[in-house]
Amino acid sequence: MVKICCIGAGYVGGPTMAVIALKCPSIAVAVVDISVSRIAAWNSDQLPIYEPGLDEVVKRRRGKNLFFSTDVEKHVAEADIVFVSVNTPTKTQGLGAGKAADLTYWESAARMIADVSKSNKIVVEKSTVPVKTAEAIEKILSHNSKGIKFQILSNPEFLAEGTAIQDLFKPDRVLIGGRETPDGQKAIQVLKDVYAHWVPEDRILTTNLWSAELSKLAANAFLAQRISSVNAMSALCEATGADVSQVSHAVGTDTRIGPKFLNASVGFGGSCFQKDILNLIYICDCNGLAEVANYWKQVIKVNDYQKNRFVNRVVSSMFNTVSGKKIAILGFAFKKDTGDTRETPAIDVCKGLLGDKARLSIYDPQVTEDQIQRDLTMKKFDWDHPIHLQPMSPSAVKQVSVVWDAYEAAKDSHGICILTEWDEFRKLDYQRIFECMQKPAFVFDGRNIADVEKLREIGFIVYSIGKPLDPWLKDMPAMA
Ligand code: NAD
Ligand code: UDX
Repeated sequence: MVKICCIGAGYVGGPTMAVIALKCPSIAVAVVDISVSRIAAWNSDQLPIYEPGLDEVVKRRRGKNLFFSTDVEKHVAEADIVFVSVNTPTKTQGLGAGKAADLTYWESAARMIADVSKSNKIVVEKSTVPVKTAEAIEKILSHNSKGIKFQILSNPEFLAEGTAIQDLFKPDRVLIGGRETPDGQKAIQVLKDVYAHWVPEDRILTTNLWSAELSKLAANAFLAQRISSVNAMSALCEATGADVSQVSHAVGTDTRIGPKFLNASVGFGGSCFQKDILNLIYICDCNGLAEVANYWKQVIKVNDYQKNRFVNRVVSSMFNTVSGKKIAILGFAFKKDTGDTRETPAIDVCKGLLGDKARLSIYDPQVTEDQIQRDLTMKKFDWDHPIHLQPMSPSAVKQVSVVWDAYEAAKDSHGICILTEWDEFRKLDYQRIFECMQKPAFVFDGRNIADVEKLREIGFIVYSIGKPLDPWLKDMPAMA
């Protein structure tokens, strides 16, 4: 029986290995992590991450050919293939701080693999890493190998949270990069054989190591760039009376452009886009490519601009002050169908409103109060470390309350900000909400999910990203 071990039981390691175990009953898969609480949760009925369809996959294979363990060294020693899916956050200190990837976790995993291995192994980069990381890993492994042979492969993961299981079942492509030597090609074939259990062969792409590593950063940069492009257009739509949804549709029907990933929003979030673009910018800078670095920097600048623009719109619409006013925040996760809040735009929007002394009542169906308080008190990039390594909040933000119902959040509020596109927010009884709010009652829709006409009929003053402005808002002072 082929044995796989995956180091890192996070958002990528957990679901990816659960699907490999489901699709390859003849392979034994162990997912290991240094976090005792995370592994305990994987072994319980309350998995550590919320992801549609994940519970069922785990339940079907756990204890059969899928195991979660903290005995990292034992499982690594026994494995033929070791995936490394540890976090690769942005460096917070020292050389490259605020841009470069922090490879501390990766390096310590590589050193441990070298220490405990007693047989040849294929080591697979599953984490998103800077180009040429495989070379550094090879050096660590070969200098400590005691004669054992390691082949390094790059097999970046393209799943998106909220649709991870679907994405893993039917990936657009699986990418495997390896050395162009006979041993490198043999290793590629071994990994290809694993995926071939369920992925059609023409969807398994093979490249050299550096192309695979760079393709992952490039794919995320391209995706984020589309969102910043449509968000930049949303500002122009508001200024001119065009409707961003109509513009997106008209642009996206061009088959060369395509309709996906053109939804204007309050800004993109998530653990990957900003981190990976910063990483790309750092690599460009290190290679003397300042113009290329500046091009990608703009994608992040527009994203920050979009979040600021939203906050300014809320404040200026409400007579230029939200001081002491209750504002309901509907949705805190960075997108629907996940409880993940890493780099969610809600953090910047809430901090902006708190800066203007608003009182916030926050509701998200999947995010806990503790997580929200942590996020609102944490320094930039600290979030980027595993949850169990994040600092505890020194004290709760007093102007913030977290409630477990959208109606409760909206009660007595002056305005509602929709920051995550949860389906349940489309189906709320907005008439009921209107009746229990202060007047004039505002809705600021950062996800374009509300029925603007219907809300206006009820009596709300509505702002929806990139949509023609409410006459009320047109008369308000211009914003940044
Ligand atoms: P995560 O923080 O959820 O999980 C990483 C896990 O690795 C943590 O549980 C941590 O305890 C563990 N870990 C760290 N060092 C370890 C060590 N030495 N030994 C054992 N365990 C260790 O991170 P994630 O979201 O799963 O992301 C992992 C990687 O995958 C990152 O490089 C990320 O950029 C990339 N990625 C993430 C996504 C996503 O949607 N989250 C998608 C594609 C790629
Ligand atoms: C992303 C990539 O899509 C995935 O391939 C990669 O493996 C990890 O990073 P993820 O961050 O989980 O996945 O979610 P994604 O669906 O890409 O959304 C990222 C952010 O962009 C979210 O905040 C989402 O709300 C926002 N978004 C997405 C938009 O604002 N508009 C869109 O049209 C699409």
